[in-house]
Amino acid sequence: MAKVLIAYSTVDGHTLSICERIAGIVRGEGHEVTLAAIDDGPAIDLGEFDKIVIGASIRYGKHRPQVVDLINSNKEILESRPSAFFSVNVVARKPEKNTPETNPYLQKFLKQIAWQPQNLAVFAGKIDYPRYDFWDRTAIRFIMWMTKGPTDPTAVVEFTDWNKVDEFGRKIARL
Ligand SMILES: Cc1cc2nc3c(=O)[nH]c(=O)nc-3n(C[C@H](O)[C@H](O)[C@H](O)COP(=O)(O)O)c2cc1C
Repeated sequence: MAKVLIAYSTVDGHTLSICERIAGIVRGEGHEVTLAAIDDGPAIDLGEFDKIVIGASIRYGKHRPQVVDLINSNKEILESRPSAFFSVNVVARKPEKNTPETNPYLQKFLKQIAWQPQNLAVFAGKIDYPRYDFWDRTAIRFIMWMTKGPTDPTAVVEFTDWNKVDEFGRKIARL
């Protein structure tokens, strides 16, 4: 049994839902899983864990700076044990942008951080217009209009391929 950390950065909770799904699979394989939010609160002690997964969503082109800080201040620990990173964004709903190699945000992020994760994944996220404030809703509708996505302001659309999430969870359990 390994002690597995799943550290996540979310704004609207969808990355957490993905982490919970991965946690369920990893627990099912007999491991102990801790979920921890990457925020401005107390620092997470990565050194306590045998395997580390970091998951973060994209907002206006970027993962949050706390994610970069956590990674850059724990480079040695991350490199010394099995670890993984995944990104959640809606560009990944497009088949030509849904792999670690083809997703522009993940590729840009890898150039920004000192750690090069052995295991990577990209998951398409969720659009939840009723939840957003006026400006975010307007901005996302405009981006969706430009990229041929849903623009109905009442729409809630989940693009996530949960089979792909499950497969990643099984991979984490086996690391
Ligand atoms: C204000 C806002 C900005 C976003 N910006 C981007 C973006 O630049 N590119 C992208 O692919 N997805 C973008 N998204 C989509 C999010 O990545 C997607 O909704 C994801 O599921 C959010 O995950 P979270 O709930 O864990 O934060 C944006 C969403 C919101 C609400």
